[in-house]
Amino acid sequence: MNILYIGSGFVGACSSAVLAASGHNVLVYDIDENKVNMLGSEDRDTIESCLFEKGLGDLLVRNKERISFTNDYKKVEASLDTLDAVFMCLPTPEVGETGESNLSYYITAAETLAQALKKRNNGTQEKHIVIVNKSTVPIEMVDRTAEIMDNAGVKNYGVVSNPEFLVEGKAVEGSLKPNRVVVGAWEQKDFDIMKKVYQRFYDAPTVDYIEVNPKEAAAGKLLANYYLFNKLAVCFDVIGRTCEAFDHIQFEHLRRIITTDDRIGNWGFYDSLYAGGSCFIKDARSLSHQLQTKGKPATLVNETYLANKRQLELFLGRAKSEADMDFSGKKIALLGLAFKRDTNDTRNSPSLDITRTLLENGVKKIKAYDPAATDMFKKDFPASEKIEYVNHEFEAIKDVDIVIIATDWPQFRGLGDVMIGELTHKPLIMDGRRMLQHRYLDLTKAGFKIIAVGSPYLK
Ligand SMILES: NC(=O)c1ccc[n+]([C@@H]2O[C@H](COP(=O)([O-])OP(=O)(O)OC[C@H]3O[C@@H](n4cnc5c(N)ncnc54)[C@H](O)[C@@H]3O)[C@@H](O)[C@H]2O)c1
Repeated sequence: MNILYIGSGFVGACSSAVLAASGHNVLVYDIDENKVNMLGSEDRDTIESCLFEKGLGDLLVRNKERISFTNDYKKVEASLDTLDAVFMCLPTPEVGETGESNLSYYITAAETLAQALKKRNNGTQEKHIVIVNKSTVPIEMVDRTAEIMDNAGVKNYGVVSNPEFLVEGKAVEGSLKPNRVVVGAWEQKDFDIMKKVYQRFYDAPTVDYIEVNPKEAAAGKLLANYYLFNKLAVCFDVIGRTCEAFDHIQFEHLRRIITTDDRIGNWGFYDSLYAGGSCFIKDARSLSHQLQTKGKPATLVNETYLANKRQLELFLGRAKSEADMDFSGKKIALLGLAFKRDTNDTRNSPSLDITRTLLENGVKKIKAYDPAATDMFKKDFPASEKIEYVNHEFEAIKDVDIVIIATDWPQFRGLGDVMIGELTHKPLIMDGRRMLQHRYLDLTKAGFKIIAVGSPYLK
């Protein structure tokens, strides 16, 4: 099949690489020239310094004969005559804090595409193509996409909703071996094209290949994300909080009791500073906005959002209320800048909010470290008199008053030994991911005081 991707972010880059690896010819268009050059460099290290996703570099290099990246729309136009499918992978962020989706990236791309599509096959438009919404869009977006195409006079097209369920950090692995593929279409011929695109998954006994209509597919994505978001919020706002409220209750023990019930399952049972990343927050907000637009209450959805919001505030507030520690004038190690391990994505990363709060509270210096996300983070907070980026977690924790662990990079688990063995002073440890839980007892015996999510104040 001949496939065009519009947008080569996390979703576009990973999904297009997987389709190239499935034997399709793929052209990926993005307006970001730097990204296009890096992803199209055919060099693993360059690709991964642009988008840090395990396996992406290798996959793109291995399939370089079948995939190319461009920011030249003429190449897109030249590809349209023989095209089978266009995958729309544009950003759909929230407008302010309204819940409404900012569809301007999508609409701009769709309108440009529509103008080009009506000229294909010398204006006859005889080849049927599908326009596939891979972006997470409002449930009724399928109608809007069709309206854009119809208004421009595009013929012989179908709009398909094919939501993306990738998990950042495991995007390539997950896209090569998905547990489900959801295809929403109105017409059999659109299902048929998608079946050819995803033949390897359609034929795989381990993949649930789900055919529904486009509104069900879009709604399924939003609701699945809300369910996961809520699960995370229950973990830190209810279970974690209970563990913080009582002595002699260890979060990990409760996790075992609760998650061994098959009905509950164990995904998401890790206490944290909140559910970050680019999707959960905005998708829950979008769901709430869409429900309210239809005159329906969205109380529970809104409460999940608020629980997520209050988690970090409560955690940072414990420095004063429990350890009588002000941030003002302090040197602070901030460990982990990505919103979670195994990615360089910093969108909605707790570390962004932590940095803002610390600066507002007059810290003397933040010594920040992340194994992958420093360059991304610097776009929001360049190095300055107040923020120093260091090259190792050990360097960050030297000579500071407070150590904040914000990301669950596995190497942070080893910090306990260094703290006990090498730090002569005793910084307050604020563990936002329970990374040092296995050493809490030793650390407190050695004189450290610990504020950890999911534990009472330990001293
Ligand atoms: N990141 C995830 O984990 C994830 C998972 C599932 C679904 N999604 C959804 O997929 C969509 C894309 O997410 P993402 O994380 O890949 O976003 P992203 O911001 O990483 O990438 C979007 C890309 O679109 C490009 N772009 C913007 N306007 C363009 C235009 N007019 N023409 C061509 N390219 C243009 C940008 O330059 C950028 O590279 C969103 O709707 C998101 O909600 C994301």
